[in-house]
Amino acid sequence: MCGIVGYIGPADSVPILVDGLTRLEYRGYDSAGVAVLQDSRLEIRRHTGRLSNLEASMQQAPLTGSVGIGHTRWATHGAPSEKNAHPHTDSTGRIAVVHNGIIENYQALRNELAARGHRFLSETDTEVIPHLIEDELAAGAASMLEAIRRALARTRGAYALGIVSLDEPETLYAARLGSPLIAGVGDGELYIASDVPAILNRTRQVVYLGDGQIATLRREGLELVDMAGKPVAAEVQTVELEAEAAERAGFETFMLKEIHEQPRVLRTLLNLHLGNGQQDTPEILGFDADYWRSLRRIMAISCGTAYHAAMYGRLLLEGLTGLAVETDLGSEFRYSNRKIDPATLVLAVSQSGETADTLASVRMAHERGCRLLSICNVAGSSLVRESDHVLYTHAGPEIGVASTKAYTAQLMALALLALAVGRVRGDIAPELADEMISDLRAVPDAIHYVLNRAEIIREIAEKHHDGPSSLYLGRRYNFPTALEGALKNKEISYQHAEAYAAGEMKHGPIALINEYLPVICICTRTRDEVYEKTISNVREVEARGGRIIAIATDGDTEVADIAEDTIYVPQTRDEFSPMVNVVALQLLAYYAAQARGTDIDKPRNLAKSVTVE
Ligand code: F6R
Repeated sequence: MCGIVGYIGPADSVPILVDGLTRLEYRGYDSAGVAVLQDSRLEIRRHTGRLSNLEASMQQAPLTGSVGIGHTRWATHGAPSEKNAHPHTDSTGRIAVVHNGIIENYQALRNELAARGHRFLSETDTEVIPHLIEDELAAGAASMLEAIRRALARTRGAYALGIVSLDEPETLYAARLGSPLIAGVGDGELYIASDVPAILNRTRQVVYLGDGQIATLRREGLELVDMAGKPVAAEVQTVELEAEAAERAGFETFMLKEIHEQPRVLRTLLNLHLGNGQQDTPEILGFDADYWRSLRRIMAISCGTAYHAAMYGRLLLEGLTGLAVETDLGSEFRYSNRKIDPATLVLAVSQSGETADTLASVRMAHERGCRLLSICNVAGSSLVRESDHVLYTHAGPEIGVASTKAYTAQLMALALLALAVGRVRGDIAPELADEMISDLRAVPDAIHYVLNRAEIIREIAEKHHDGPSSLYLGRRYNFPTALEGALKNKEISYQHAEAYAAGEMKHGPIALINEYLPVICICTRTRDEVYEKTISNVREVEARGGRIIAIATDGDTEVADIAEDTIYVPQTRDEFSPMVNVVALQLLAYYAAQARGTDIDKPRNLAKSVTVE
């Protein structure tokens, strides 16, 4: 995700900004920039690629100044390029802004401002912010603070902001809604940062900005107000973390941090596409309503974890729309003779957007005239560039090699897409769609609940970690969950694991079952028609002495009676239960790997992006 650093004090801000941004590099970025107030001028330097490129450009055209803001951008709106890199300015070049988050109504604001003569130079959502502040100052706002407050009231979305202006050269402003931001308090100097590690070598005294708060930072100190302009007391806290641990926000690995980020990631996606309402935004559909109404077939292409997401997407799209949906692996599709023609929509699912087999397959499909819709996490990636429309997962950079938050974000994106397509085609009754959306909104809290059970899951994982193998069973929506749970276990604990559709077990793998084999059975329910069938399958395991670890719905004592160990999860609509159940399996794999002493963030033989065939 993007990074923000800001400084005001007696020293030259430039090396402090660069050092702070360097400490946020681990979060991933594709361009960087700084804005510094220097001798009544606002100087900006921006560059694509590594921070070293920005530093080189600053060596050619040096700048210094004791008030400045810096940013590392991870592209969302607009490709990674110099013009899209932050900071962005207003029309007069007097106000500069760095921003993390998303301004959802930026297009409407941009149209409104452009109609009044504002000229925009980038494709970003961020650029509307300095223009809005300029607009409010022109409309008579009495101060920068007042203009910022009024400008932000016109936006919808999430932000962490750093703002400087030539009109108030001794002040640095910061604001936060939904995206993290802290202020650091030093001796006669202050900082802002999107994450603690950026400034931990300079101060351990920090103020965590609350949602809807705006901070005014001057050398003498910091003042906070809320969105109504009412003063708020700033509570200075001491950070105890060591720098390295702080990068992982105190978690022992990036993977564990990313597992814990899932409720927030899914909430972001829900807010982005549903806001406070029930209606899906048209952008999620990508193509116009007539296209969706006349479409008959989707071919979903992906690899690995993303393939499990596509399997889930197939079930949901087929359940909620009249479309025929097929899935294929990138590595298989590209050498197959599968029939696709311009009437087929190709749906590519990929976290990185750089997976060679997925890319080769979608290129083939594109050449045959198919339209391409991608579900992707990385703006500016090869897949994004080649797609006709992209549905971003907005999970932020995933650093742990084993995918976790990108997977659940893919499931959420697919659920939102299936509901939107079902609605636009008239395949799903509006009342049912509304009911499902309410149930979908409950998913982040349900995941939170599972995360709170991490200790119980750890105990179970430690008890079963040392066997040579394990078997995962699930049916219907949770068959892909079983596959994904087994994959996580293989990847990070190096324990052999197999997954089967539970009903398939008796066709072969039942021979594996003995009193040593852990069998992880996903048997959650709301009104699931396959629940009873799954229980029968679990009883088949029980009858052969298998060691059953059940993932069950809270209060289900029938399952607990059969299982040796039970991980309870909250009741979640069957269609959406995979997003919750998989988190229990991620943790199970995680703690098994920890007990086996593997390198969890960088498992052997694996690469985060498989860019070769
Ligand atoms: C597993 C994992 C991989 C990827 C696969 C596709 O944890 O991350 O299986 O899912 O290599 O990668 P993307 O989604 O980047 O196309």
